[in-house]
Amino acid sequence: ARTGLILGIESSCDETSAAVVRGGREALSNVIASQIAVHAPFGGVVPELASREHLRAIVPVVEQAMAGAGVAFDDLDAVAVTEGPGLPGALLVGVSYAKALALALGKPLIAVNHLEGHIHAVLLERVLQPAETQATPEHGQPKLALVVSGGHTHLYLAQETHHAWTYRNVGRTVDDAAGEAFDKVAKLLGLGYPGGPWVDALAPFGDARAVPFSFAQVKAKAHRRADPVALHPEEATYFSFSGIKTAVLRYVQTHDMEARIAARRQAMATMPDASPRRDLEAVRALCDQESLDLLASFQRAVVGDLVRKTFRAAERYDVAEILVSGGVAANRELRERFTAEAAAQGLPVAFPSLKLATDNAAMIAAAAWPKLITSEFAGETLTAAAGLKL
Ligand code: KG4
Ligand code: ZN
Repeated sequence: ARTGLILGIESSCDETSAAVVRGGREALSNVIASQIAVHAPFGGVVPELASREHLRAIVPVVEQAMAGAGVAFDDLDAVAVTEGPGLPGALLVGVSYAKALALALGKPLIAVNHLEGHIHAVLLERVLQPAETQATPEHGQPKLALVVSGGHTHLYLAQETHHAWTYRNVGRTVDDAAGEAFDKVAKLLGLGYPGGPWVDALAPFGDARAVPFSFAQVKAKAHRRADPVALHPEEATYFSFSGIKTAVLRYVQTHDMEARIAARRQAMATMPDASPRRDLEAVRALCDQESLDLLASFQRAVVGDLVRKTFRAAERYDVAEILVSGGVAANRELRERFTAEAAAQGLPVAFPSLKLATDNAAMIAAAAWPKLITSEFAGETLTAAAGLKL
């Protein structure tokens, strides 16, 4: 009998991950090999190095995931892999491996969109209500999914009909992703890569009202007029995060912060493995109050914009709930503000646990489960799709 055991494989960016998930809900293992230490000296992901690190890690990571779950390859019902979007060379490693494995085992192969994976990370840990274990309703109320990561800031209406999920893209960024803005601003202020976790950890020490940032509404409006049919022009939600990054740069330049930042950058370079959890005090000591205020104000502005526009869209589409996922969904202020607004509006909001917010393979295996039920399998010609849309 089919128990819905799926091995998921993820290699779209800078983590090699494999996980075994049962029935789309229960992660028996979720192994994540991070390449952060490899890329940190370069201040960002180096695609060529990423591909090579994936190639090095993929076999041991899968073996660890299988051993951790205590299942044999023969017990699997399917192999699922991230098809895209992501770095082409990085994706190819996971796709090639998963294809070969599925072929050798004689098991079905399931291709998963990375963004769909992020959305399913929220549903993965949810305990099913008895009614939900039955067949899903034909026309349920849609959910609004905000996927907010280093490469993406997207809003989707997600709907499940007889186990098949469909997604309608109703919002996106017109320039940088929110996580990209976190990373760039952290870099501007001399902090390590990836910057999001540093900003998250340091912002509580700053005064978020110190620097008033406002968003470039004009740019978003211009885009609305020029947008092709892909998004419905009147209804679509547009985010823009490149303007605030420039505003931070301008602030740094006009407030003579450059020397202080250069000193901090140099100090950070001597601690390449620094992590916010372990080294927060040391890094905080490197930060002057003005830098902390700037970080706090930046985070407050970005989070405020995400919350405001997402709830506005939720009202417009009359959704049943909001799902927030992707790396930036790990941010504490973002969780607090979304939770507070949800309580005020009486509309539920859900997040993945911290480990499932950033890239991982459990979310890929979880997203593959409905496809296993509906026999939506990948063909023999499956390849990496770097620019894949959802
Ligand atoms: O989902 P993810 O692991 O990879 C992509 O698909 O992009 O997201 C990584 C992004 C990075 O930009 C990182 O700085 C950001 O998520 N991030 C955070 C936090 N943790 C990760 N941003 C703000 N606060 C955090 N706690
Ligand atoms: Zn991601």
